[in-house]
Amino acid sequence: MNKTPTILTGLRVNSEITLGNFLGALLPMVRLANAHSQTSHINIFVPDLHSIISEIDGELQQNLFTSLKYFLAAGLKVNNHVHFYRQSYVPAHSELNWILNCTATMGELNRMTQYKDKSEGKDGVNVGIFDYPVLMAADILLYDAEYIPVGEDQFQHLELTRRLATRFNYKYGEIFVLPKEPKDQAKFMNVENGIRIRDLQNPEKKMSKSTHAANSKIMISDDPAAARKKIMSATTDSVGKISFDTFNQPGISNLLQIESLVTDTPLQDVISTWSGETHYGDLKQKVGESVATLLTDFQRKLTAISDQEILDLLTEGEKYANQVANSKLLQVQKALHLR
Ligand code: TYM
Repeated sequence: MNKTPTILTGLRVNSEITLGNFLGALLPMVRLANAHSQTSHINIFVPDLHSIISEIDGELQQNLFTSLKYFLAAGLKVNNHVHFYRQSYVPAHSELNWILNCTATMGELNRMTQYKDKSEGKDGVNVGIFDYPVLMAADILLYDAEYIPVGEDQFQHLELTRRLATRFNYKYGEIFVLPKEPKDQAKFMNVENGIRIRDLQNPEKKMSKSTHAANSKIMISDDPAAARKKIMSATTDSVGKISFDTFNQPGISNLLQIESLVTDTPLQDVISTWSGETHYGDLKQKVGESVATLLTDFQRKLTAISDQEILDLLTEGEKYANQVANSKLLQVQKALHLR
């Protein structure tokens, strides 16, 4: 059993990432890693097998290296507890995926919101899209990982992971460590609920890579001045007074949430500063400035990181990941009398 706790996250690399991915998962992971890497393992991996369920913009290998560079450019401090790896370089993920498939039910996978969204109205949906949360469960359970910094849209998958682990343990003995419940994950990430960055033009929806309207999303390579403009043109409401109310004022609430995450200020403090103010333009100005500063700093650091630096980290990380994952897999195989 891997006694040192593990914090783990993965980021698909089908295209460049949005500010939603950055603030929902990447930056929280970097902040947690820097705070806990003396006492916890920090597993940062590229779910490349998850990527092939759908189209890939650009070239997978290149996207993969770029996405790992993002973590360093966002301020991740590397030490020997920080492990970078590629999912497909650790075959135990696929093996456990199959084994867990024999625990999961069609009904529970059918209920996954992301599956519904991705398959709605489409013919010939591939089985990978359906089975994707089970592979995600394998990614987590192989490492006894308890804290998984992800955005709120992935919480349903964490709950499924807990359910599969519980069911497996009940039948075969205490083999898997359960990831913490979503509310405890949020607490650990120092946010009240899960993080959901909203579409700037249509704040009822989450900010997504696949949205076509350019003003709806901020990409991490956006020119900082252009990103500021997108914030200035974000949809708000006609209430006329700032308050954090995701139901009646989703656009304003989104700006407050972005400001809190970008400046690493507790949301409650940002809310106290702005509550009751009537000039939405002032808030947009401030958030636009904060986002532009973040992007300028991030993009400058990104250019200084070489592929070789990432390759060295992957070589070390994959050795570690294979050791931990194979040892857990063997426990599972023995429990099933496969060994
Ligand atoms: P993916 O690649 O779709 O998204 C990467 C991370 O970004 C978060 N995110 C958001 N957070 C807040 N607001 C948004 N608008 C927003 N959009 C995206 C996602 O929640 C995610 O944390 N299944 C995962 C990848 C994965 C994984 C894992 C993660 C595979 N195995 C094991 C953790 C542990 C996914 O597709 O995320």
